[in-house]
Amino acid sequence: MVKIAVLGCGLMGTKIAGCMAYHGHRVKIFDVNASALGTVQEILDQDKEDLHRDGLMTHHKFLGQVLCMSRLEDTVEDAEFIFEAVIEDIDVKKELFERLTQMCKPDAIIGSNSLQCNIDDIAERANCKERIMNLRFLHPVYTIPEVEITTTRHTTPDNVEKVRQLLEKMGKTLFYRSGKEPLILSDIQIASRKLARRKQILRQRGLAGFPLNDVPGLGHDGNTTPMQDDDCATSNDSDCAICMDRKRDCLLCPCHHLVTCHECAKSLVNRQDSCPICRKEISEIIRVYTA
Ligand SMILES: *[C@@H]1O[C@H](CO)[C@@H](O)[C@H](O)[C@H]1NC(C)=O
Ligand SMILES: *[C@@H]1O[C@H](CO)[C@@H](O)[C@H](O)[C@H]1NC(C)=O
Ligand SMILES: [Zn+2]
Ligand SMILES: [Zn+2]
Repeated sequence: MVKIAVLGCGLMGTKIAGCMAYHGHRVKIFDVNASALGTVQEILDQDKEDLHRDGLMTHHKFLGQVLCMSRLEDTVEDAEFIFEAVIEDIDVKKELFERLTQMCKPDAIIGSNSLQCNIDDIAERANCKERIMNLRFLHPVYTIPEVEITTTRHTTPDNVEKVRQLLEKMGKTLFYRSGKEPLILSDIQIASRKLARRKQILRQRGLAGFPLNDVPGLGHDGNTTPMQDDDCATSNDSDCAICMDRKRDCLLCPCHHLVTCHECAKSLVNRQDSCPICRKEISEIIRVYTA
């Protein structure tokens, strides 16, 4: 499980977040538009249904979780990889990169999903250009293995390597943009990738009842016992989804989501933030005591 931040909850941002959660990572997605953020879980639920129907997912839920965040700082503070997918406006991206590189971890890797903007321009005012690159996921993110990379003049090979390893465990392939033109897939190419993905899942299902390649760190050699439990998540469901440190021990009211520890819930309330799962206002916190 890797800690991922996604910035911008438009179509691409939401799909990138969903794809990361599908592969078992913990994702925080950020947007300044609260009403857009409020629709993220609905879109993800639809994605899960579609993936399941198309035979692209053996379970009804993602192995990881997506949390909706309304503050940039909370979103990026513990992220190991940050994927920016805000509107295609160079000034917005420049400002965002400048701000986020002052808040993120000193080794966080930052990718922009930009189609047209120059990554050196985007990173112009950022203070860690060696960790910045353009990483363009292609729609629909769940089934397209290609991720197009363009580096800045300062991106270092070890940081590209870290991204390559993350993506490879998810069955994705990094490739460098050839010339100036971005890769655009035809409908036929998109359909054939979806088919290939389905075959791959069926093959793995025959072996283990579970897409082993999708679950970094869980595929133990020689053990092909089917995992029948519908909620065999890689992350520990009893850990607070926000800090990943303390136990989940309180209910957020009125939605009754059990996702955070008491400390994190209090800080959500203090800054009048909403439930990270459903974006409902939090009126009260109830401590839960387990025997
Ligand atoms: C915020 O998101 C909503 C729902 O997606 C959209 O209709 C609206 O135009 C957005 N507002 C702004 C200011 O972008
Ligand atoms: C999850 O956390 C609980 C409580 O600390 C622990 O008993 C359990 O073994 C953990 N499960 C996994 C899969 O790490
Ligand atoms: Zn917490
Ligand atoms: Zn909730």
